[in-house]
Amino acid sequence: MKIVPRLSAAQPGWFAEADVVVIGSGIAGLTTAIRARNAGRRVILVTKDVVDAGSTRWAQGGIAAALDPSDSAEEHFDDTIAAGAGLCNEQAVRALVTEGPVAIHGLIGLGAQFDTTASGELALTREGGHHRDRIIHAGGDATGAEVSRALVAAVEKVRDVELIEHALALDLLLDATGAVQGITLHVMGEGRRDGVGAVLAPAVVIATGGIGQVFSQSTNPRVATGDGIALALRAGALIADSEFVQFHPTVLYTGPEAKGQQQLVSEAVRGEGARLVDASGNHFMEQVHPLADLAPRDVVAKAIMRRMRAERARHVWLDGRGIGDRWPSRFPTIFDALMAEGIDPRDAMIPVAPAQHFHSGGIHTDLDGRTSIEGLFACGEVACSGVHGANRLASNSLLEGLVFAERIGRVLGRTLPQRREPVSPNGTVGLLSETARSVIQSTMTEGAGVLRSGDSLSISTSVLESMTFTPATEQSAAAWETTNIHAAASAIAYGAAIRTETRGSHWREDFPNTDDANWRVRIAVRMNADGSLSHETIGVDA
Ligand code: SIN
Repeated sequence: MKIVPRLSAAQPGWFAEADVVVIGSGIAGLTTAIRARNAGRRVILVTKDVVDAGSTRWAQGGIAAALDPSDSAEEHFDDTIAAGAGLCNEQAVRALVTEGPVAIHGLIGLGAQFDTTASGELALTREGGHHRDRIIHAGGDATGAEVSRALVAAVEKVRDVELIEHALALDLLLDATGAVQGITLHVMGEGRRDGVGAVLAPAVVIATGGIGQVFSQSTNPRVATGDGIALALRAGALIADSEFVQFHPTVLYTGPEAKGQQQLVSEAVRGEGARLVDASGNHFMEQVHPLADLAPRDVVAKAIMRRMRAERARHVWLDGRGIGDRWPSRFPTIFDALMAEGIDPRDAMIPVAPAQHFHSGGIHTDLDGRTSIEGLFACGEVACSGVHGANRLASNSLLEGLVFAERIGRVLGRTLPQRREPVSPNGTVGLLSETARSVIQSTMTEGAGVLRSGDSLSISTSVLESMTFTPATEQSAAAWETTNIHAAASAIAYGAAIRTETRGSHWREDFPNTDDANWRVRIAVRMNADGSLSHETIGVDA
């Protein structure tokens, strides 16, 4: 498979300098920016829309951490490892669960307000795969919005973090040794930073979030176009576990034509007692897993797909009628969205089906967010620290963004990579026109979605390979994003074709079993100079 080695773009017309440039303004990017600035670094934060437009704001369920005195980091570790289906990096998980509670108190210190019980303790709920109530939440089901609000306010209070909005990062700048030295970017602005420019910095932190737009339906916002993965691939970084794409089991089903961002119905709704029901009225999860409706997410998504297939149905039902009058206060966002669709969940069941939700794979990092390129860090959903393995445990994603951002902040506070002059980038340039976007989304949804096989993946791969990139395609945000979507889709399809087994969120119909003898390894994809992809396998704990 081949991707574009470099995006077609004008020469930079403006320049800025910093110690650290952070790309992305979700929990990971904002936390890194605050911590690096507090450590005395000059920080520029770039974000492609407005500062709170990323995935963090949409997170409903919450943040998992062993905060209850009867809970322990060890139990959170066990649940995370079980969900990850043999591919978690245990050291990364250990860091996540032990540093998580402190990081959450740091977030509260920055101003985030979480829901509390009548006695003033943090209110804890449960989601799929957890054996304990350990999910904190805010505004009932508006956790991400509160985290985003608090971090945006905190970054505004930290003097001298320069924020550049409406800025799409285009490519990384490298020096003669191959180390990163900044980025090129395009800013839609009216002022001194307008059009294509460059931010020169010896440390670049990619925190751009997910890849939702690779698929036709996703819970992710429209900005989730895989930009970080594409940038890193084009610079030669390793992308690990790309095949592990998580499909959330309970996304509101509004019809076969629905496209783009879909309404999530949080797992916390099942945590409060809602149950899945098939078209014949059976509570089918009891027969599938000891945790029934609160089984790990991949188990529930697969069980739903099986029921939908067996009954030739387009969705199953979520029965949350038992939540009754608590709906509007416990889940205000979901309640309003359902009511807007004419569904009153207090007395009607909710039609739900799986849709793309989270990318467990991403830019391969060590425990401090370092990638395979010197000076380049990655954090949050775009990164693959190994913490999620083959399937992320519910509400571990905001926690990952927080804990590993704190770690990167500490590293950057201690030492900065060496600043050298970037060399002029070379290599073929090209762009895919915007019209390719829906073709990529359809072929990925059909061939590399919840159910995959060698045949379906080879169709997706041929469609992706048949796309033509030309330097002449008009340069626009839509074309740059579409070219990034293609790069992320190619890495996902490539990894999915190689992994000839079923594990976690990767479900191969032609290889229905888990094959530990051959596949208890990570597949790491990279781009070669001509744009072709190749891979190596690396140890689970590497
Ligand atoms: C949810 O609220 O169900 C999503 C939480 C998550 O993705 O961790």
